[in-house]
Amino acid sequence: MATPGWAGRTMLLLMSCELVCLTVSAPPTVTLRNGVKMPLLAAGCWQYNSSTAFDSVSAAFSVGINMVDTALDYGNQDGVGRALASFPRDQIFVETKVPGCGLDKSTLNLLDCYKDTQKNLESDLSLLNVSYVDLVIVHFPPVTSFVTRSCNNWSGGCEMVRAQWKAMEEFYKQGKARAIGVSNYCPSCYDCLKSADIFPMVNQIQFHLGMGTDPAGFVSYHKKMGVQLQAYSVLGNNPIKHSASEEILRGNLTTSIGKSHNKSSVQVALKWVVDQGIPAVTKSANAKHLKEDLDLWSWELTAAEKEALDNHRNPAGSPSFACSSETASEFVV
Ligand SMILES: NC(=O)c1ccc[n+]([C@@H]2O[C@H](COP(=O)([O-])OP(=O)(O)OC[C@H]3O[C@@H](n4cnc5c(N)ncnc54)[C@H](OP(=O)(O)O)[C@@H]3O)[C@@H](O)[C@H]2O)c1
Ligand SMILES: *[C@@H]1O[C@H](CO)[C@@H](O)[C@H](O)[C@H]1NC(C)=O
Ligand SMILES: *[C@@H]1O[C@H](CO)[C@@H](O)[C@H](O)[C@H]1NC(C)=O
Ligand SMILES: *[C@@H]1O[C@H](CO)[C@@H](O)[C@H](O)[C@H]1NC(C)=O
Ligand SMILES: *[C@@H]1O[C@H](CO)[C@@H](O)[C@H](O)[C@H]1NC(C)=O
Ligand SMILES: *[C@@H]1O[C@H](CO)[C@@H](O)[C@H](O)[C@H]1NC(C)=O
Repeated sequence: MATPGWAGRTMLLLMSCELVCLTVSAPPTVTLRNGVKMPLLAAGCWQYNSSTAFDSVSAAFSVGINMVDTALDYGNQDGVGRALASFPRDQIFVETKVPGCGLDKSTLNLLDCYKDTQKNLESDLSLLNVSYVDLVIVHFPPVTSFVTRSCNNWSGGCEMVRAQWKAMEEFYKQGKARAIGVSNYCPSCYDCLKSADIFPMVNQIQFHLGMGTDPAGFVSYHKKMGVQLQAYSVLGNNPIKHSASEEILRGNLTTSIGKSHNKSSVQVALKWVVDQGIPAVTKSANAKHLKEDLDLWSWELTAAEKEALDNHRNPAGSPSFACSSETASEFVV
């Protein structure tokens, strides 16, 4: 049989979605401050090129995952866009990221944060080939803040945060994003946005089993601020090996808890996160794994298992690489 052409492939995907999406119930949602409902599970695509992103995100949608997380910096927006094209736009929650305000790579000059963010937001939409996204977030605090490890205690820091955020607010008001937020933001960055018109709705941070339930006070801090946390590297991805943490995959705790529920160690680690009401972004290039990643709501952890997981410490990780020395307790809410 000849390989189906583009139209044929689209039909196959739609058919497989009709078969699968009707039988697999969509993940539960959390409600953002503006009423937008965000699924508790997303398929990510960091470290994937366009073609792997297309394959993996298409597979994720086909097994019933209804949310994708990508970023302009991942360089795979066109692949994600091609995967999106096979599904009705309103069936998928699309999240993307624009780079934190930074330096021009060739001249090393500081960029105009407002104009640069406007430009990045528009190119993100056009690469994804959609008329709106469900959520767009600022990928990280201004790059210059990595030197001081704080947004607000160096000259010009807050100005950069505010200029970038102004472009985000405008994009939201134009209806091009249903919600706006940040990623890797530190409490000092929010200090710069105290008088913003629209406060960030989401902060996507590193959060996974082994970090405890309130690393650096970020969980309680964001709860008080009304900012929804979202977890990335939720399986403790090793950025060099590009794989989930050994402790999560093969550690005694996740393995033994998984066994007693006939679930995998990864499912235990993912369930621990989403049970806290924190949406998780994971990724896989393997459709069987993606299907497992979605099966988090047909079973329950016992109270003793949950306590053991809460108290587990390893692998280490800090919520934000941009402010690893900053804890929420230094900041007054
Ligand atoms: N905002 C930020 O700065 C930021 C930073 C990092 C990540 N993120 C986002 O968060 C996403 C996830 O984080 P991450 O990429 O660091 O990866 P991760 O979710 O911590 O780990 C991904 C790895 O887990 C494996 N995996 C997934 N499901 C599995 C299963 N059921 N059984 C066994 N192995 C499984 C996958 O391997 P296989 O392919 O072999 O299944 C994959 O290599 C990213 O893709 C990105 O969208 C955002
Ligand atoms: C994309 O990545 C996959 C997996 O690493 C690789 O096999 C493929 O050759 C890459 N494609 C391109 C166009 O680089
Ligand atoms: C973008 O989407 C439109 C449909 O909305 C489609 O006709 C067009 O081919 C897509 N463009 C690309 C480059 O995929
Ligand atoms: C800024 O704050 C961070 C931690 O909040 C601290 O480590 C750093 O030394 C401060 N920098 C300056 C220039 O005060
Ligand atoms: C994990 O289990 C193995 C075999 O049952 C045991 O040898 C090892 O000490 C355990 N490790 C931890 C950290 O409990
Ligand atoms: C355990 O899970 C596997 C895969 O999800 C399934 O095929 C099998 O039937 C399950 N076994 C029991 C005893 O439930």
